[in-house]
Amino acid sequence: MKQSVKLIAGNWKMNGLAADLDAVIGELTLALQAEPPSCRVAVCPPSTLISRLAGAVRGCPIEVGGQDCRAEAHGAYTGGVSAEMLKDAGAGLVIVGHSERRQEFGETDLLVSAKAEAAIRAGLAPIVCVGETVEQREAGRAVEVVRDQVMNSLPKAVVGRDFAVAYEPVWAIGTGLTPTLAQIEEVHRAVRAAMIERLGLASAPAPILYGGSVKPDNARAILAVPEVGGALVGGASLKAADFLGIIRAA
Ligand code: 13P
Repeated sequence: MKQSVKLIAGNWKMNGLAADLDAVIGELTLALQAEPPSCRVAVCPPSTLISRLAGAVRGCPIEVGGQDCRAEAHGAYTGGVSAEMLKDAGAGLVIVGHSERRQEFGETDLLVSAKAEAAIRAGLAPIVCVGETVEQREAGRAVEVVRDQVMNSLPKAVVGRDFAVAYEPVWAIGTGLTPTLAQIEEVHRAVRAAMIERLGLASAPAPILYGGSVKPDNARAILAVPEVGGALVGGASLKAADFLGIIRAA
């Protein structure tokens, strides 16, 4: 991913039926065709809607992403979806290591790294998520925790490929709370340094997205913070007008 062009990605989580997708994407495609975005735009719906979304955005600058994948390409994993399957359904990206998966499904850095590697294997751009809990922030450990997550969740296989890291403080997700701009900058700088160290490169060749209660009214300030290369948007990506407000702020 080019660092100069910001990436605004919507994570629909477990929300949306076909009719919702048609309504939101219908409005988005019309608006983006009338006035093309100055950033990359991606929507990550539930996997049931990936193929429908891929069909709906043909010819429009909206990329399609999954929200998770298994590390294996195929096999006896009931309910599982592989990176290859997402690719086959029309996705170009996939979120891995979201805190909801780390917390609810006990996903470790090691597993997240394997999933990111699977994404690369399948030709998808992984968006690798990291972020501290409120207890970790209150203990003054936010930077250390996020640094460790980057060092252990980012596989070397991303070098030379399209990918992103998303910093999402767990306590800012769905709460309306956000870190101060200075706190966002501090953690993003630490993420950048950890990426460079982990990948053994002179500079980190991927955007670092901020996620957690990004809304149209705070997007412009957050996206202007040095080192913020885009946003990973939950709730506000479910409404075309709100998501567009964030896209226009990039
Ligand atoms: P909200 O934007 O709803 O806080 O969700 C953020 C998020 O988890 C995106 O992955």
